[in-house]
Amino acid sequence: MNQTDFPRILGICCRWCSYAGADLAGTMRLQYPPEIRIMLVPCTGRVDILHLLKAFELGFDAVFVSGCHIGDCHYLAGNIQAVKRVAKLKKDLASMGIEPERLEMFHVASGEGPKFATVCREMFERTQKLGPNPVKREVRAAWLAKQPDAEIAA
Ligand code: FES
Repeated sequence: MNQTDFPRILGICCRWCSYAGADLAGTMRLQYPPEIRIMLVPCTGRVDILHLLKAFELGFDAVFVSGCHIGDCHYLAGNIQAVKRVAKLKKDLASMGIEPERLEMFHVASGEGPKFATVCREMFERTQKLGPNPVKREVRAAWLAKQPDAEIAA
């Protein structure tokens, strides 16, 4: 773990709309932060609360779920389920000591490459303001405490 680990942002995108939007952003050569790691899922309805928690546990500083617009989900209501799960977890994150702003849900269509780039920039700026994921900070502090040259590493 080192300073280059921050920020790490996970973008979970459905294959039908948002992933195509990300692809279009690339095709249009739109700039967005390279710290965004994109994970493809068949539908945002596949994203479970446990997956989102695991991402934070693994050290991602922010996570966003990006799916089709409401009414456009190829599996009818997957994105509505995702909206509910993200909203529920945002409420629970605060009680875990993790800022709810680290998690967000977006809707990006396949033709909205510029919007996808905007979403990425927004999450990047938000994460920069929040700082590293508290889970990662605790893991790093525990790791540093075990190092014989902890003062130098800090
Ligand atoms: Fe895109 Fe369901 S297929 S959110």
